[in-house]
Amino acid sequence: MTGPRLGIVSAIAQEQRGLLDALQSSRSVRHGNRDYTLGALWGRDVVLVLCGIGKVAAAATTTSLIVEFGCASLLFTGVAGGLGEDVRVGDVVIADSLLQHDLDARPLYPQYEVPDTGKSRFAADAAQTQALHAAAQSVFGAGSPSLIGAATRQAFGLHAPRVHRGLIVSGDQFISTRADSDALRLSLPDALAVEMEGAAVAQVCHDYGTPFALARTLSDRADDSAHIDFGQFIHTVASAYSLALVQALLMPGS
Ligand code: ADE
Repeated sequence: MTGPRLGIVSAIAQEQRGLLDALQSSRSVRHGNRDYTLGALWGRDVVLVLCGIGKVAAAATTTSLIVEFGCASLLFTGVAGGLGEDVRVGDVVIADSLLQHDLDARPLYPQYEVPDTGKSRFAADAAQTQALHAAAQSVFGAGSPSLIGAATRQAFGLHAPRVHRGLIVSGDQFISTRADSDALRLSLPDALAVEMEGAAVAQVCHDYGTPFALARTLSDRADDSAHIDFGQFIHTVASAYSLALVQALLMPGS
């Protein structure tokens, strides 16, 4: 196995199934109520873990990956709801920066600011994000063969996926009404997608100086049908996309 150890985190099992199946020489360690699976993915020393849903779960797991399992860098893959006007279900969003949309300690601190850091946006690692973006372009960009069958593409009305890069916002809330997603769009007009873990991972990685990157496939549009779209999407598409993305990242040119 080569390279500094990489921690790969997803929130739920359907987002990581393909990666777990591809893992070699694996052994599992139970810690803090989670299963950490250590092994090799395309020759790289990795730890796979499901953090569970929400910011606290993500922060606790991130801390363990860094402190207990010695991960030198982290990657989060999973699904998100689309907020940006031109991001569609099936598109991939790579985070440049992340913000907690439900953090509000006003009037003591500005809205969204993590108290005593002076920051509301936490940047993903530039080099790792660039590599992830290149991997996403190679897997999903124009001219790439589709990863999923025609029937599934038709069922979800999936177009050829586009790869976006920008702000992803996180909060302890599944956004499932048009009114709630409109409110987010109004207050955070540059947010491309919403999910429930990424900004917590970013904050902990910032505290430890651990580089991290995050990619999300859009499972829904964070509107009134979000829960239906999300449920179907994670079963059919999420795992295949994560697997292909991580393979392209760890084995460029594969
Ligand atoms: N993850 C996937 N879709 C989401 C949504 N609509 N809100 C929050 N997290 C999500």
